[in-house]
Amino acid sequence: MQLLDGTACSQQIRQEIAVEVKAIVAAGKRPPHLAAVLVGDDGASQNYVKMKVRDCEEVGFGSTTIRMDASSTETELLAKVEKLNRDEAIDGFIVQLPLPPQINENNVILAINPKKDVDGFCPANIGNLSLGLPTFVSATPNGIMELLKRYNIETEGKHCVVLGRSNIVGTPIAVLMSRDTNPGNATVTLAHSRTKNLKELCVSADILIVAIGKTEFVTAEMVKEGAVVIDVGQTRVPDSTRKSGFRNVGDVDFELVKNKCSFITFVTGGVGPMTRASLLQNTLKAYQRR
Ligand code: GUN
Repeated sequence: MQLLDGTACSQQIRQEIAVEVKAIVAAGKRPPHLAAVLVGDDGASQNYVKMKVRDCEEVGFGSTTIRMDASSTETELLAKVEKLNRDEAIDGFIVQLPLPPQINENNVILAINPKKDVDGFCPANIGNLSLGLPTFVSATPNGIMELLKRYNIETEGKHCVVLGRSNIVGTPIAVLMSRDTNPGNATVTLAHSRTKNLKELCVSADILIVAIGKTEFVTAEMVKEGAVVIDVGQTRVPDSTRKSGFRNVGDVDFELVKNKCSFITFVTGGVGPMTRASLLQNTLKAYQRR
């Protein structure tokens, strides 16, 4: 079994981006600038945004964090989005999800200018992705593709089972893995909560991508000997032995599954850092397109 090291790969990507930013600045131009909108005080979201800002600093991007109260209205958030759409100094921005229940996420996503939608969540970007046109591929699926590419994992003709059909991960990764690219060219099955015979299906997977949001859902008997397993899940569970009071748990029971795999990601240092590196890649792309 080989661990897919998202921390090392993302470090490589950050270094590549930092070199480009240095060249931009040396040419007398301003660096790319990413803004993040954070509504409310969800601990995981706060942490994600903090890490995204830290990544920006590391590669030499400018960054802005806009914090809004948990009680903010949809109208207030839409006004912020509109301001960012028009702000010439901002190349790309994200609205960290999930949003408080009084705000309709789709309305917010629809309001983002697709040219600044570095999350790749807008209909125009998802449509372009499906058509194979230039787009911002959302960060987690893009990070998974980078990880497969950088480890030279053979995907052509393989059976790839994706668990979970979310707009952010499951659906776009299913599209990417089936496209005529490398990585890609896989035969993809998109499985979800209503799928029958899930265990049998998973066991037939050469590549299993799990984004189902259920802790340690995938156990050893669901994994084929020699499979590649990508765990996107990251759920905080209380843990009094940790200083933070919690630990992150994936959708795959790593300890049970690891010895059956050819390659596997761990909940920490796996897909997460690759997602953040992809956001930087998209921000650089947004800057270059302007
Ligand atoms: N919440 C969980 N993942 C993401 C992501 O990739 N982007 C945003 N905006 N929110 C998220």
